Amino acid sequence: MPCQSSDELKALVEEARNCTKNGKVADYIPALGKAREDDLSIAIHYPDGRCLSAGDIEKKITLQSISKVISLALVLMDKGQDDVFKHVGMEPTGDPFNSIVKLETMAPTKPLNPLINAGALVVTHMIKGDTVKERFQRLLVFVQELTKDATIRYCEEVARSEFETSYLNRALCYFLKQHKMIAENTDIEQLMELYTMQCAIEMNCLNLARIGLVFAMDGIDPQSGKQIIPADIARICKTFMVTCGMYNASGEFAIKIGIPAKSGVSGGIMGAVPGKFGIGIFGPALDEKGNSIAGIKLLELLSKNYKLSMF
Ligand code: DON
Repeated sequence: MPCQSSDELKALVEEARNCTKNGKVADYIPALGKAREDDLSIAIHYPDGRCLSAGDIEKKITLQSISKVISLALVLMDKGQDDVFKHVGMEPTGDPFNSIVKLETMAPTKPLNPLINAGALVVTHMIKGDTVKERFQRLLVFVQELTKDATIRYCEEVARSEFETSYLNRALCYFLKQHKMIAENTDIEQLMELYTMQCAIEMNCLNLARIGLVFAMDGIDPQSGKQIIPADIARICKTFMVTCGMYNASGEFAIKIGIPAKSGVSGGIMGAVPGKFGIGIFGPALDEKGNSIAGIKLLELLSKNYKLSMF
């Protein structure tokens, strides 16, 4: 077992916390701007049920872009790879997560991958169900199964705050609808409602680490032995986490840290160390690319100290 005690983790958290002063809390979604810049917490979830943690791990955070990996897994399970990858590609981009530029310059107009906003919006529009409520419920039940926590909900305030200000995502949706990557009968306001609820699903670091653990164990819940996600879909998701999970910082992250991981603008990072454990981090101060600045530092320390890189 790489990290033996919560005290070891606490020391690493205090070292990494120094970086928070160089980052900034995201406020383009106004409700996220309320987070404390110097917050930093981590949980590690092992397959035998043991958890190590440091920092205020009871604090809840919204998933934001971390939810994109989960909706991708669900839609791949529902629709199959052929259908999904007709609408979204498999390549990393060197652009920011909300960029529109490649949609116009590439032919055909297909988002490069499911972890940038354009690709995630396409994936979310493929979630099965007749109403926003029904489709969101499917996703939520899946999240509850992954976390083994039936109390998981979404934060209405954050969802509303994003819904009311999400002009760029709306632009991406209309562009994609024009080019038939989003079906013509899609009501974009309803899609935005579903997407912002998805991004506002709320949980603590322990829950997040448990999701990472299921991905780390090839889709199996190690406690019940149940295959929650088929192994090939878990593999696809982890591969995207390596190539695109930290946006246009994914290459540097792979070299310095070497763990499949996914970040969100709320400051969350979900990590899956293959075959070993899941990681959940919360550190809302972000770097210029939208990743948790102290969260990355903490993962760098962990990876170096315990030789976690998969490469
Ligand atoms: O669509 C958005 O802009 C947010 N709901 C999610 C973006 C995000 O988390 C990007 N992460 N680094």
